[in-house]
Amino acid sequence: PSLAVVIPAAGTGKRMLSEVPKQYLTLNGLTVIEQTINKFIELPFVHSIILALSADDTVFSTLSIAHHPKVKTVIGGKERADSVLSGIRFASELDLSWVMVHDAARPCVLERDIIELYHQCVAQQSAGILAVRVKDTMKRAKPDSVSVDHTVPRTDLWHALTPQCSDIKSLETALVSQLQDGLVNSAVTDEASALELNNKRVLLVASSARNIKITEPDDLELAQLFLQSEE
Ligand code: CTP
Ligand code: MG
Repeated sequence: PSLAVVIPAAGTGKRMLSEVPKQYLTLNGLTVIEQTINKFIELPFVHSIILALSADDTVFSTLSIAHHPKVKTVIGGKERADSVLSGIRFASELDLSWVMVHDAARPCVLERDIIELYHQCVAQQSAGILAVRVKDTMKRAKPDSVSVDHTVPRTDLWHALTPQCSDIKSLETALVSQLQDGLVNSAVTDEASALELNNKRVLLVASSARNIKITEPDDLELAQLFLQSEE
């Protein structure tokens, strides 16, 4: 089956401390958002790529990739989940059954990991996400405290990355119900957590640790190195 890719790209990138939103910073000759789109656009099972953009975005339409036949745009919202939902609503009109949601700020995702996630989800008819096992020892502190309360066993812990893959109907239903409950940004910080709260199974598919989210200035340097070594 072919699928829609929804890319939330309506954020302002506050933690990046740059004038330009981070999705439009230059990374090895292209913008971050172009590098990200390029990871998906040639994959045969990708039907459309739906970018959720800020209402006052003036940059995206100037990029040549904006005219690619697979690329569509919608207006995003206040929180990431609002942006994702507007993308999913567009996707649900396309008569496709599957969707992948991927952060614009993760240009270093490997194509082979996207393909593996797709195959696992379709084969097992399940939602799934790319994830990496936690490497560092994890400490928990009480709220507002900076001393250790206890150590959290890390053996069962994973970092949830993107893409996150699901059938469109389940994800739309889950996001709508969580947005109504006002859980977004408390319990629901990714698509999978909305699905989990609706009792859906979510597969963990091991990702390369290179699939970082560009969040702070140092991350851009790392992303540069990772993309250079792919060439
Ligand atoms: N995003 C979005 N709509 C929002 C907020 C975020 O589409 N209202 C997107 C961002 O553009 C990014 C992805 O969601 O591609 C992951 O979010 P994050 O890394 O937090 O980006 P920002 O919110 O832009 O950064 P910050 O939190 O530092 O302001
Ligand atoms: Mg944010």
